[in-house]
Amino acid sequence: MRFNHNGVLSNIEALPGCSQIAVFHSVFVPLGQRHNGLGKTAHKMRLESAKDLGYDVALCTVDLENEAQISILEENNWKQLTYFTSSKTGHKVGIFAKGI
Ligand SMILES: CC(C)(COP(=O)(O)OP(=O)(O)OC[C@H]1O[C@@H](n2cnc3c(N)ncnc32)[C@H](O)[C@@H]1OP(=O)(O)O)[C@@H](O)C(=O)NCCC(=O)NCCS
Repeated sequence: MRFNHNGVLSNIEALPGCSQIAVFHSVFVPLGQRHNGLGKTAHKMRLESAKDLGYDVALCTVDLENEAQISILEENNWKQLTYFTSSKTGHKVGIFAKGI
């Protein structure tokens, strides 16, 4: 399901097989509007949406070189569970979780 939080688009889906886990993915701030605090504010709204939807836990993946998104996750107390090197991109990808 797609969300629009102050112009920041993202998706939240139930993890197949465990519907109390929300998978956060595909967030983006429109080009030209980044690094202005929009992503940070929208992230808090996104967590509120997940809470309203009754989820217990949120899960997401992030390229470990994505400093902006990692900073947002750290500020909101997400925990890095592990990481892997993607055989698709060669990048290190972190897997993060947070209680809702
Ligand atoms: C990642 C993204 C959602 C962050 O949103 P944003 O509005 O640009 O970020 P904000 O302005 O709210 O900044 C959040 C934090 O990241 C830092 N930051 C922002 N852009 C940064 C950059 N290019 N490099 C390093 N740090 C950056 C900010 O300083 C801020 O940290 P602070 O709170 O310590 O000051 C946005 O940049 C984006 O859409 N990127 C492309 C898509 C993407 O990577 N999505 C995430 C996939 S998991």
